Amino acid sequence: TRVAILISGSGSNMIRLVEDMQGLGHATPVLVASNDPAAAGIDRAARLGVATAVIDHRPFGKDRAAFEAELLKPVLAAEPDVLCLAGFMRVLTPDFVRRFEGRMLNIHPSLLPKYPGLHTHQRAIEAGDAEAGCTVHEVTPVLDDGPILGQARVPVEPGDTAETLAARVLVQEHKLYPAVLRRFVTGNRSRLDL
Ligand code: GRF
Repeated sequence: TRVAILISGSGSNMIRLVEDMQGLGHATPVLVASNDPAAAGIDRAARLGVATAVIDHRPFGKDRAAFEAELLKPVLAAEPDVLCLAGFMRVLTPDFVRRFEGRMLNIHPSLLPKYPGLHTHQRAIEAGDAEAGCTVHEVTPVLDDGPILGQARVPVEPGDTAETLAARVLVQEHKLYPAVLRRFVTGNRSRLDL
């Protein structure tokens, strides 16, 4: 199974996915692409021997379709079977999503359906939630809304800030995403709760 991964930043989730595939051999990372030339994950992916591409979204302004037409070039050239969004911070159009629907995953730092969108940890703290966590889901045209493939939960501790909670959730993201991808590539669509 050929897996392409889209990132925007540090790529810590991408690194875990790539290392897991390279370690277990259940799939092959064929591309890591970023919308941000400064994404540290691009250098990290290259050091792991994975092909990379950068398509800076800024020159395209609000023209999402034009940005995605450029992004599609290296993505389609890599001929991925599965597309993983990992810290990818651009909203994708329904046209783009429909090309990969059913074989496109995303990790979101909340227990969906709670807190789709941004600032998830701050929102959980402000709501006084006892628990927070992360979700891996299939990507559909509606943002942060597709079928849930896995979740991991953490306690919200007294005195938590968005940063301390994010750090606790990130540890679980790094376990959840590789575990869900291992199952997904075998055709297993059942939900994994860590
Ligand atoms: C993570 O919290 C992830 O859930 C969100 O982006 C953050 C950074 O991810 N989508 P990474 O370190 O770039 O993988």
